[in-house]
Amino acid sequence: MTQMMRAIEITEAGGPEVLKPTRRPRPEPGHGQVVIKVAWAGVNRPDALQRAGLYAPPPTASDLPGLEASGEVVAIGPGAQGLALGDLVCALLPGGGYAEYVATPAAHCLPVPDGLGLREAACLPETFFTVWSNVFGRGGLKAGERFLVHGGSSGIGTTAIQLAKAFGARVFATAGSAEKCAACLDLGAERAINYREEDFVGILKEAGGADLILDMVGGDYIPRNLKALSEEGRLVQIAFLGGAKVEVNFAMLMTRRLTMTGSTLRPQSDLAKARIAQDLREAVWPLLSAGSVAPVMDQTFDLDEAAKAHARMESSNHIGKIVLKVGQTG
Ligand SMILES: NC(=O)c1ccc[n+]([C@@H]2O[C@H](COP(=O)([O-])OP(=O)(O)OC[C@H]3O[C@@H](n4cnc5c(N)ncnc54)[C@H](OP(=O)(O)O)[C@@H]3O)[C@@H](O)[C@H]2O)c1
Repeated sequence: MTQMMRAIEITEAGGPEVLKPTRRPRPEPGHGQVVIKVAWAGVNRPDALQRAGLYAPPPTASDLPGLEASGEVVAIGPGAQGLALGDLVCALLPGGGYAEYVATPAAHCLPVPDGLGLREAACLPETFFTVWSNVFGRGGLKAGERFLVHGGSSGIGTTAIQLAKAFGARVFATAGSAEKCAACLDLGAERAINYREEDFVGILKEAGGADLILDMVGGDYIPRNLKALSEEGRLVQIAFLGGAKVEVNFAMLMTRRLTMTGSTLRPQSDLAKARIAQDLREAVWPLLSAGSVAPVMDQTFDLDEAAKAHARMESSNHIGKIVLKVGQTG
């Protein structure tokens, strides 16, 4: 008999209210996969974009939202290596995290860092995979460089500030309120810029220009980012919350030898994500276990309150990560 589980589904494209509790068959592990009994599920802005009909899941992924979770390994598929039944993990998911059970490649699971609970661990994968691959991989951030991240108080931003600082960069961050700017400074930014009151271009230029910018805003930030870069500076685009179409004078790319790039994590191959997981295990998980880097926790909601969690995220009043309690606490 098919075993069923509680989950949250997107009933139609729309606002937070389209997220509704449902019952679905429990997933089985495919080749190289494990099934996790979910304790906590992280909430990310891409979940809200998917819910609004603006970010379709890859064809092979679950239609249920949820890109990261923590919990216990309860089933192991053929060819899955490195994990045993009962292991506590956090994992990057192809989708399906807003549910009691989820299947994901074993190679996308990481241990719960020493000193962190499952609640905090659930909030690591999506932002740490994204920041690591874009800031240090694609963007090539090096110690001593000036790094600017927009949306510094977001899940992505709070992770980017801490990792850039931990690896020796000078960190600048923008955010939309004095409280959010204070949070950025607490996390290690040397300068937090309230974009409602100050112009980040002038501030970065005065500091010598940004060697690397991580941007999720786009829109009119695109030409302004190019102006804020130093010679040979790099701009990495991970979203376009402010729009993807804008008029830009690209002569700056040529005359100042700039690089503009970007990526999305979800459609990348399992192998590419496994490589990022391995890098994180070696370079970043020791920092989490040592407590020198930690997830910034905003509010917790029950799984059935996923709509409220999305409404909080879209209010942009949060600082750091929002998380859903699915199974056990801890
Ligand atoms: N490319 C990838 O692989 C990838 C992976 C994960 C996430 N992302 C993207 O990265 C961004 C951050 O994700 P997250 O989960 O950390 O989200 P989040 O916590 O909700 O952060 C978004 C933040 O952006 C700021 N913001 C600036 N301009 C905005 C605008 N026009 N509309 C809405 N917010 C604006 C808001 O803070 P202020 O008050 O400062 O404005 C808000 O807190 C999202 O756009 C997400 O889609 C991309």
